[in-house]
Amino acid sequence: MRVLVVGAGQMGGGIAQVLAAKGHEVLLNDIDETRIRHGIDGIAKRLERDVEKGRLSPAQRGEILEHIDPRPHVHDLDVTLAIEAATERLDLKLDLFRFLDANTPPEAILASNTSSISITVLGAVTSKPDRVIGMHFMNPVPVMKLVEVIRGIATSDASFAFVRDLALALDKTPVEVRDFPGFVANRVLLPMINEAIYALYEGVASVEAIDTVMKLGMNHPMGPLALADFIGLDTCLAIMNVLHEGLGDSKYRPCPLLKQYVAAGWLGKKSGRGFYDYAPRPAQDAQP
Ligand code: CAA
Repeated sequence: MRVLVVGAGQMGGGIAQVLAAKGHEVLLNDIDETRIRHGIDGIAKRLERDVEKGRLSPAQRGEILEHIDPRPHVHDLDVTLAIEAATERLDLKLDLFRFLDANTPPEAILASNTSSISITVLGAVTSKPDRVIGMHFMNPVPVMKLVEVIRGIATSDASFAFVRDLALALDKTPVEVRDFPGFVANRVLLPMINEAIYALYEGVASVEAIDTVMKLGMNHPMGPLALADFIGLDTCLAIMNVLHEGLGDSKYRPCPLLKQYVAAGWLGKKSGRGFYDYAPRPAQDAQP
């Protein structure tokens, strides 16, 4: 199948990788060639690790990469499916869905990897809301088994079945979810992360102490503050804002410390600094 993936960041790159690994032809798009190149370099590096670990042969690695076609410009595309994995901003996603509607065949399914933006709202700006759906992968995409499949109010049974079957074919576990703010994953995860940030903000404990409590006390693979850095603090704030506005309950208000970090450009791992310091400093090991 020919699939357009819009967004070559950590999510889009991971989605492109898992599709290509199953033999799909992936057209990978982003706002410029540098970002696409960066995304493909990340995929190549991860596949190299799989070769080193004996999970892939060098030839298989080459074949997977050959299935990914960098496409800085996309117009009138003959694709069966488009998966949007762009930055978590409503205005941007609305523009993209209008564009995808106009530049893909009428029968193409338009999916969004959004973590919290309404699928119903995205569908409403297209001519075919029955073919608009949420396909929410978890980070890191090649490792995590879950895909939330989100039905907008107008999403058809056929579109749902198509995306569910694709998720199964990618060796993922699809879970059907209705279109309400944060769906299930982020409705539950983000308030926990926000509460961990409040605990830090109020001086209850240090970054390391909060993460240790959750790792050793609750068996989470990463502490909530390390996980926030991994997701991106801008994305965490965007999701909290969607929960707060969409559900109208003050329990979802984003912590002022989270807002301050985002205002400072401390966005977590991708910017080199968040609750932890990721800047390469050989003498110091501040990674979680
Ligand atoms: N891409 C591909 N593979 C990766 C990877 C990546 N980015 N990061 C780690 N892996 C693989 C490694 O290759 C490794 O496999 P091998 O050892 O067999 O090679 C395996 O995962 C384990 O990695 P590590 O030993 O380096 O580290 P770890 O045991 O701590 O696992 C982790 C890393 C899988 C990320 C683990 O810490 C984890 O599960 N963390 C929680 C992840 C999570 O909660 N994700 C959901 C985020 S929320 C989200 O995505 C939704 C949203 O909308 C915000």
